Amino acid sequence: LAPSLVDSFGRRVSYLRVSVTDRCDFRCRYCMAEAMSFLPRRELLTLEELALIVDRFVDRGVTKVRLTGGEPLVRRGLPELARRIGRRIGYGLDELTLTTNGARLAEAAGSLVDAGIRRINVSLDTLDRDRFAYIARRDAFHEVLAGIAAAKAAGLAIKINMVALNGLNDDAFVPMAEWCGAQGFDLSIIETMPLGRIDEDRTDRFLPLTFVRDRLARRFALAPSDHSTGGPSRYVFVEELGIHIGFISPLTHNFCATCNRVRLTAEGKLYLCLGQSDCVDLKAALRENGPAALDAALDEAMRIKPKAHDFRIDRPAVSRHMSVTGG
Ligand code: GTP
Ligand code: 5AD
Ligand code: SF4
Repeated sequence: LAPSLVDSFGRRVSYLRVSVTDRCDFRCRYCMAEAMSFLPRRELLTLEELALIVDRFVDRGVTKVRLTGGEPLVRRGLPELARRIGRRIGYGLDELTLTTNGARLAEAAGSLVDAGIRRINVSLDTLDRDRFAYIARRDAFHEVLAGIAAAKAAGLAIKINMVALNGLNDDAFVPMAEWCGAQGFDLSIIETMPLGRIDEDRTDRFLPLTFVRDRLARRFALAPSDHSTGGPSRYVFVEELGIHIGFISPLTHNFCATCNRVRLTAEGKLYLCLGQSDCVDLKAALRENGPAALDAALDEAMRIKPKAHDFRIDRPAVSRHMSVTGG
């Protein structure tokens, strides 16, 4: 049995996030600038290479794989890649999942289910079409809702990801929770994180989740819950709605001590922390020395995985955008 991945702080890595493309059909204001330059396509790992690398991670004890982007559904061949990785479910892999903006979900939902995906996270920051168009800079609200409906009809469990944005959705937490309750979706609320340059000042939009929790607690009883999805969300259960609400609060409540994850980019770099630049180049290892070289690169990765991020909302922690590492 190949040795599992344990970093120098004794944290076991069991969760691999795979950004299959850094491109996206939206330009959410907290995530991207309107004018973005993306990785040249010739630099990308092929789907074969991606599958091979994921396989090795599963051999090394990764039990959860999440496909992300950018927007994963804009990468051609994504369903085939999912199917390929999905073959490891029950053979080392417990869960294959995906985070999407939902715009292309209506076409993709069936193939995701066929690949073995049971649960997805869909980004949705507001239920107001105009606000949506403002935040995402694309008027795609109806496509997203149609995508979500199709995914639900296909039998996928859905969790909504909502980034808390001062002045844009600070009045929307209770309505979003109620809508999720009616739909049977869990909800995660996320603090905006300082990754890459965008066209506005993140400080103006930052809303601490202490504020959000307070808003929700005025309306609902938030019962402590030990529900866990293996990600950074800390959940409460809302009896009246029958759903879990999760909080991802890297700025107000650091959770790095329990970090279990690493991130593979579409060009084959393995980033070891969302808020740091430390990485190893798996594409180079694979292309220069073949699959056997991956193990040494993964061991090196475990040696250099940083202890924590040092996010401050007033300056980008790193120049790369969240879309490069898929969050
Ligand atoms: P679950 O499997 O449902 O728990 O999903 P997840 O929360 O792990 O994944 P998702 O792609 O839905 O990410 C939700 C948010 O969590 C995104 O904004 C990610 O950037 C953020 N996130 C995930 N891992 C980390 C982390 O290690 N540090 C920080 N600061 N944010 C993270
Ligand atoms: N801060 C917090 N969340 C972000 N996301 C994208 N960029 C940021 C950011 N700078 C969210 C998306 C998606 C998830 C993967 O990350 O809304 O739900
Ligand atoms: Fe695209 Fe997601 Fe970034 Fe919005 S948050 S621009 S949907 S990658």
